This record gives sequence, structure tokens and C-alpha cells, in this order.
Amino acid sequence: MHIEHLSLTNFRNYARLELSLGKEPMVLHGANAQGKTSLLEAIYYLATSRSPYTTSDRQLLHWRTENDPLPFARLSAEICNKHSPLQRLEVTLMLDNSTGTPRFKKNIKLNSVDKRVMDVVGLLNVVLFLPQDLSLIEGSPSDRRRFMDTTLTQIESTYLEALENYEKILPQRNALLKRISEKRASKSELAYWDEQLAQFGAVIIAGRQQFLRELELRAQRTHYALTGSRETLTLHYQPSFIPNANNNGQRSFPLTGLDLHRELPPEAIQPQLLQQYNDELRESIDRGMTLSGPHRDELRMHINGRDCGLYGSRGQARTTVLALKFAELDWMRDRTGDMPLLLLDEVVAELDSQRRAFLLGRLDDAAQTLVTTTELDIFNDDFLQRAKLFRVQEGQIEAILPS
Ligand SMILES: Nc1ncnc2c1ncn2[C@@H]1O[C@H](COP(=O)(O)OP(=O)(O)OP(=O)(O)O)[C@@H](O)[C@H]1O
Ligand SMILES: [Mg+2]
Repeated sequence: MHIEHLSLTNFRNYARLELSLGKEPMVLHGANAQGKTSLLEAIYYLATSRSPYTTSDRQLLHWRTENDPLPFARLSAEICNKHSPLQRLEVTLMLDNSTGTPRFKKNIKLNSVDKRVMDVVGLLNVVLFLPQDLSLIEGSPSDRRRFMDTTLTQIESTYLEALENYEKILPQRNALLKRISEKRASKSELAYWDEQLAQFGAVIIAGRQQFLRELELRAQRTHYALTGSRETLTLHYQPSFIPNANNNGQRSFPLTGLDLHRELPPEAIQPQLLQQYNDELRESIDRGMTLSGPHRDELRMHINGRDCGLYGSRGQARTTVLALKFAELDWMRDRTGDMPLLLLDEVVAELDSQRRAFLLGRLDDAAQTLVTTTELDIFNDDFLQRAKLFRVQEGQIEAILPS
């Protein structure tokens, strides 16, 4: 799949942008603070309806809209994928005053017809690679949960639906736990929320397990290629993270049977989650929070049987992340039969020469690649000849013609 044309209005520092994209790798070149990352963010937003950076859509609107009575931002892309020669996806973010409390509303249109986020799942798939992803292994568990969630939600609408419901229900159950601890509600009110939370939680856990099982094979292939088959990468899903517990913050598999290589359907996980809520009820009420479930689960990567986050060198961690990112690309391709877009923000500059050569060699695998950089000389001549260059300056983008 690829984007033919991208239009932005009031998105970040792009007051107005019309950009036609090619199929050759595209290099966005510019000094700091010109709009390189913002352009990738816009494409990512069209694919996922989320920003990789901010949770507040307000921040995405151009500052010049600050005093507008009805500020809005619009992103639109003409997309070709295997199912359709050309479709137009449009997302408008706007202030909604209709309820009395001002809030931001997202309107999605496909070929001018209103759609829900769920309806456009799979239309545009992207793999985004950011400099901070290089610390995925050493970063926090939430970074690794986000890695699983952003990949899965782009492909599986049932997963997206379960995650959206889970994220809505969780704060409500937590609020109820707090009210129970303050004696303003009774324990019997929990049953309804427990049932719902466990139902969606089980879909998320089962989905992640299957995803990791499929990802592991693909990540191993790249990892072998990068390490000359000296290292074997394995992925481990560890349920219910507890930050203040001993043993590396992990509870030792409180939900029995959650082995990545044993397929567990949601129906098998749901009763175990319910049992878990019950077992930890007293502590949950004391702390006013749900202690187990996919929002606290962990993903660990092992190299030759040892936890890479705990024992791996920086180089091993980077190799692992590279293997995971390309596994994500391969997984999306295999699941949909269509190559996703690859968006690389500054990562080329951060890699050593061996990993850089590997990365540049694989760019042609993606249907469309956008790479940002402040320096062009990090690329070899061969790559620069194949690539299309753009200059990014103060929210404007223009093609640099070959001299
Ligand atoms: N809502 C907004 N409205 C207008 N400008 C914004 C908004 N949000 C961020 N900016 C500004 O847009 C500019 C471009 O940011 P961006 O992150 O895209 O830069 P960049 O080209 O990737 O730079 P770097 O090389 O430093 O990563 C920055 O000056 C930033 O402060
Ligand atoms: Mg940037």
C-alpha cells in the first residue's frame, strides 16, 4: 500500500500542505524544528487515529488557530492498497461545544462518508521507528505494551474494540474500588465491571500472545541475520506486572498456563482473570486500583535464554529492536497481504555502520518509506540515487531536484 497524496491543514506547524508522494524511498531533509517529525506524525495519525507522542489532540492543532472560535485541523490522504486503487481518508479534529464542556472531536471520512475508527482499520498500515524505540528493551513496560497495541490495533478490529472498551471500563472500575474503600459503595457493585473488564482483558491477552508467537519467528530470522546466527531471540509475555514487587517487578505467572507457545483462547483466560480479581480484592480496594490485567502485563525479550533488558549490552538491545521492527513490518505484510509504510524518524543516524547498512538494504522491502534526517551524508551514494529528496523548512516541503 502507499499514499499518493497528502494534505494537511493546521496540523502542528503545517498551516497548509499539499504533498505528492512517490514510491521510491523519500528522504525528508531539514534543520531542527522545521516539521520533519510532524509530517511522520501526521501519517501515523491517519493510520492509527492516535499520535505516538501526545494524548491530547489539542496539541496537534496549529498554534495560529488558538483564537479561532471553532478551531480545527484536517489530515487527508489518497491511499492505494491491495483492495482498492484509490481511497480518500480524511480526519478532522475540531472543537465541540455542543455538550457545554468544550472537547475535541474526531471526525473520520472515507471517500466522503462518515466512518468510525473501527471501520477504517487496515486501510493504511504503518511501522514507525523513532529514536526512542532504540530503548524499547530498557524502557518501561508501558513502552512495550504500546508496541504490541499499536501494531495489533492497526490490523485487528476485534483487538481495537476490546482495547477501547478496556480503556474505558478500567478507570470506572478503579473509581468504584476507591468509593468502596471510602465506604461510599458496596462490593456487590463490582461484579458487573469485573465481568466486562475480564471479557475484554482476555481478548487483549489472547491477541497479544498470538501476535508475539507469530512475531517471534519473524524477529528471530532478522536477529540471526544480524548476529551471524550466534544469538537466538525469544519473546516472553509476562502477565500482571507489579512495579513494587521483587523478582524484577514481575509476579511469577499468577495466571496459570500463559505460555506463549500454548494457545489459550479468551474463554480460557477470562475465568482466570476473574479469579485473580477476587484473590487480590482486599489489596485492590486498599490501593483503589485494578492490580492485574493487560494494562500491567509485560513483554520481555531474551537472548540465548537471558533477559536482554537485564543482561544485554546496548548493541544487543539495538539489534533486538531492529529485529522487532522488521518483524512488525513482515507480520503486517503476512497478515494483510499488503506491505505497510515504513516511517523512520532520525534512526539511521543513531545506528552504527553495520546496522545502518542492514536498515538501508531493507528499505526497498516496504512499499513506501519516509526517512527524516538533518544530515544527508549519513546515506551512501547508492541509496541517495534511488531516493527522492525533499527539503523541509518552516512547515513547507519542496522536492530537491537532482543536480
Ligand atoms: N501545535 C503546533 N503548532 C505549531 N507549531 C508546532 C505545534 N507543535 C509543535 N510545533 C513546532 O513545530 C516545529 C517542528 O517540529 P518537528 O518536531 O516536526 O521538527 P523536526 O523538523 O522534526 O525537528 P528535529 O530535527 O529537531 O527533530 C517545532 O518548532 C515545534 O515547536
Ligand atoms: Mg524531529
